Amino acid sequence: MDSNSEIKKREIYLPFGKPSFTEEEFEAVARVMKSGWIGMGNEVAAFEQELAAYLNVPHVITVDSCTSALFLSLKAQGIKEGDEVVISSLTWCSSANAAVYCGAKPIFADIDENSLLTTTENIQAVLTPKTKAIVIVHYGGLAFEVDELRNKLPENIVIIEDAAHALGASFKNGKKVGSSGNLTCFSFYANKNLSTGEGGAIALFDDKLADNLRSLRQHGMPVNAWKRFINPKSMIYSQLEQLGFKMNYIDLHACIGRVQLKRFDEMQKMRLHVAKRYAAELDLKYQSGLTDEKHAKHLYVVRLPITKMKMTRDEFLLEMRDRNIGASIHYMPLHMMDFYKENYGIQNLTVSENVFKEIITLPISASMTNEDITDVITNIKHVLNS
Ligand SMILES: Cc1ncc(COP(=O)(O)O)c(C=O)c1O
Repeated sequence: MDSNSEIKKREIYLPFGKPSFTEEEFEAVARVMKSGWIGMGNEVAAFEQELAAYLNVPHVITVDSCTSALFLSLKAQGIKEGDEVVISSLTWCSSANAAVYCGAKPIFADIDENSLLTTTENIQAVLTPKTKAIVIVHYGGLAFEVDELRNKLPENIVIIEDAAHALGASFKNGKKVGSSGNLTCFSFYANKNLSTGEGGAIALFDDKLADNLRSLRQHGMPVNAWKRFINPKSMIYSQLEQLGFKMNYIDLHACIGRVQLKRFDEMQKMRLHVAKRYAAELDLKYQSGLTDEKHAKHLYVVRLPITKMKMTRDEFLLEMRDRNIGASIHYMPLHMMDFYKENYGIQNLTVSENVFKEIITLPISASMTNEDITDVITNIKHVLNS
């Protein structure tokens, strides 16, 4: 018997972010399907109101993804060709693609090696007179202190918050991510803390921007599809006020979101439980703040001791996958991606590059059982020690 076969592999694959659904979500979907209206309507409106109340903001505008939320936010803030947008290098490509869709040039800022967030200093280092926006990423679910950055930025530069990982996260002052006053973009993608399969939202305070975003998400029309559906007159007189996009959210998804929001605090407690067990039982360096309640714990990112290991990070990942543990990597820094290098030039960001060699994301979700957590811990310990 070789040493690796001594620990039993998991029989069923454990994804890194499995959604948690109950009978209530199933019933909500059935109710909406039977109602005869699955597009944008009452459920979307109710979900927007309920999420706005949760975040304590006047406006939440739902869209079909966080990618769309980021794009529309930059668009609504007037970002265009010739502008530069600064983005943390350690993020999903959507954070930067959104700027590219507007015709702007993405510029990447290096990260801090403990928080894995970018820093105010690293952002300041890449500002130019062309910089018009910063996309702040609350990576993994750890809030970046946007107010501190705001105080050090020229007034004309807007901050857009990419909170795809950060529903449920709070700033140091206890306020929820989403309530800073900046346009803040959330994701309800399949593996997110609040999941509806696909979906996104923008939280904001400004009434005028909110109206414009409502128009932009739906072709450029001032009246949404549901109002046109229930009021035939407005259908006849519907105007196109600008060239918008088809990026709205639908009732079929929103009804799941409403149940998920009711269960959200309870689901976050489950994530905290997973994070605390990992931190207590695994001797691995993790992203700072991960066991704090202010961290949304979307990702549980650790650093492997690669200089002391007999295998590379990638071999470790494959070994975990072979053991049915859905470990993952978040992310290859964007400045290392061919598309950005070829189109926008080479940047050397040493902290991101070094961190990338060591990071690995462990499974974390509200649907994990204690047995699942034990499986992850036992297999990691075994592979690291063998
Ligand atoms: C940091 C970050 N921003 C944006 C997105 C895009 O979210 P969506 O899939 O809802 O478009 C993701 C998706 O995972 C993400 O991780």
